[in-house]
Amino acid sequence: LWTAENIIEDSIVRIREQTGSEHVLLGLSGGVDSSVVAALLKRAIGDRLTCVFVDTGLLRHGEGDQVMQMMAANMGVKVVRVNAGPQYFSELKGVDDPEAKRKIIGRLFVEIFEAESKKLSDVKWLAQGTIYPDVIESAGSKTGKAHVIKSHHNVGGLPERMHLKLLEPLRELFKDEVRRLGVALGLPREMVYRHPFPGPGLGVRILGEVKPEAAEVLQRADHIFIDELRKWALYDKVSQAFAVYLPVKSVGVVGDARAYEPVIALRAVETIDFMTAHWARLPYDFLDHVARRIVNEVRGVSRVVYDISGKPPATIEWE
Ligand code: XMP
Repeated sequence: LWTAENIIEDSIVRIREQTGSEHVLLGLSGGVDSSVVAALLKRAIGDRLTCVFVDTGLLRHGEGDQVMQMMAANMGVKVVRVNAGPQYFSELKGVDDPEAKRKIIGRLFVEIFEAESKKLSDVKWLAQGTIYPDVIESAGSKTGKAHVIKSHHNVGGLPERMHLKLLEPLRELFKDEVRRLGVALGLPREMVYRHPFPGPGLGVRILGEVKPEAAEVLQRADHIFIDELRKWALYDKVSQAFAVYLPVKSVGVVGDARAYEPVIALRAVETIDFMTAHWARLPYDFLDHVARRIVNEVRGVSRVVYDISGKPPATIEWE
């Protein structure tokens, strides 16, 4: 019988059998899968789990602190947080090609994660939040974005280089099953049912060069959008929603002065499989309210636009 409790009990037995008295390392990303693995492992092996959380500076507003609050403070998981924002911004300086940006972000993640892991002695296992669709996907095509997606947070080659054994407790589960497990393990519902967030984070939502000032503006605008979606009970009606920072300057009037500032685009889509998508028909009154809040509250933004492109031909992300 499939109940979250049964799956949890079985997994715990299996994890204990597999790992014996050995220590396990896990990369936390802030996403659902790795968070569920952390909660499960905490229950199965307690302090024999250490997590490394690379805060890239490209996460959503307050996300780094939220991960620490949820995992370390609330659940008592051992988490090493690496504040790598400055390093990311410095390596991304002057780079504006989307693929080049993705490569740098992915490479840095692996480097930082590996350096941090080496500081931990007697770790024998690397746990990963691989779920069943990932297993199928990587058995098929090795090209295109799907592959890029997987190569970001699974630290390719690391298990072999560090002689670590791979632990993948969610390997047989679908996303909705992982979510039910998360809730049963005590993770906040809001976190477990969050919209997907790309591995490269805001790095692909700040078009062109990724600067820290742009990241701050984008985080604040995005936070207002998401916050209002929740308040208007629209968050769960759309599949994914976010703000994008456009480095195009437009003229506006702020107070009595003429402003010449970047543009914020809002994107919200409805989709079943993320392969095709429609733009969400959000109410005009809602969009009006969000746009006003953004220009009133986020310094450096005087124009907000709404993306009405479908996929195809547009992709969900702008880069
Ligand atoms: P696109 O933009 O290709 O996005 O229509 C489809 C879905 O995939 C997410 N996405 C990514 N996820 N790493 C990820 O982990 C990536 O590099 C990446 N690029 C896109 C996107 O947010 C959407 O949900």
